[in-house]
Amino acid sequence: MNIILMGLPGAGKGTQAAKIIKKYPIPHISTGDMFRLAIKNETELGKEAKSYMDKGELVPDEVTIGIVKERLSQSDARDGFLLDGFPRTVEQAEALNGIMDELGTQIDRTINVEVEEEELMNRLTGRRICEVCGTAYHLVFNPPKESGVCDLDGGKLYQREDDNPETVANRLEVNLKQTAPLLDFYKNQNVLSNVDGLKDIDEVFSEVDEILQDL
Ligand code: AP5
Ligand code: ZN
Repeated sequence: MNIILMGLPGAGKGTQAAKIIKKYPIPHISTGDMFRLAIKNETELGKEAKSYMDKGELVPDEVTIGIVKERLSQSDARDGFLLDGFPRTVEQAEALNGIMDELGTQIDRTINVEVEEEELMNRLTGRRICEVCGTAYHLVFNPPKESGVCDLDGGKLYQREDDNPETVANRLEVNLKQTAPLLDFYKNQNVLSNVDGLKDIDEVFSEVDEILQDL
């Protein structure tokens, strides 16, 4: 099962990914998470990625494609994977098809989580993340039982650096430009499914799961 999760920043990709991998044990490959880990480890990749992420710009295609290619070549991705946040440009999508050809496999489904732009600013500025397990909460839409503390492990919740209103506005602008041609790309390949990301988290997952069960 080779799946892509698409959606604008804050559409709920990470939230749905966590539910998907609980039910379907495939590696969750999030380019955003990979870049954040590289930043934390102060690697060269991290230094380069940070300069783009802080502004809400996309990291250059050749860098992003390189790390995904390496990750998809690892043995645990052989029996399926869930890509989250990649591809984000047509160039990335074309490169991904090339990687699939090299590996002798293909993308089975691209699930696009649709949420209106107006909703996304609220979702992102209210997001809080567990420093231990990475679970995303929301101050209003998905609050933890105890304020500032993860329900699962007691970890402290923090706000992502790029979740401030100015950077969010630029992330939305940058991603909106890329989305339409990318959706056309996968529609033309007959692998695109849209889900209504405005519903509540479990209802969105039911829609996603229906699609996955058919694969
Ligand atoms: P990345 O980490 O991928 O960020 P993003 O695409 O901006 O997406 P987010 O992680 O912010 O949102 P999400 O859709 O996962 O939402 P979530 O589930 O958390 O990328 C970060 C940066 O890395 C990019 O800006 C770029 O610089 C770089 N990068 C990454 N990939 C790249 C690529 N391919 N090419 C180039 N550069 C790249 O949910 C958000 C909030 O809403 C949470 O608080 C959650 O609790 C809440 N929520 C979720 N679902 C619902 C719901 N149904 N109802 C109500 N609230 C909900
Ligand atoms: Zn946690």
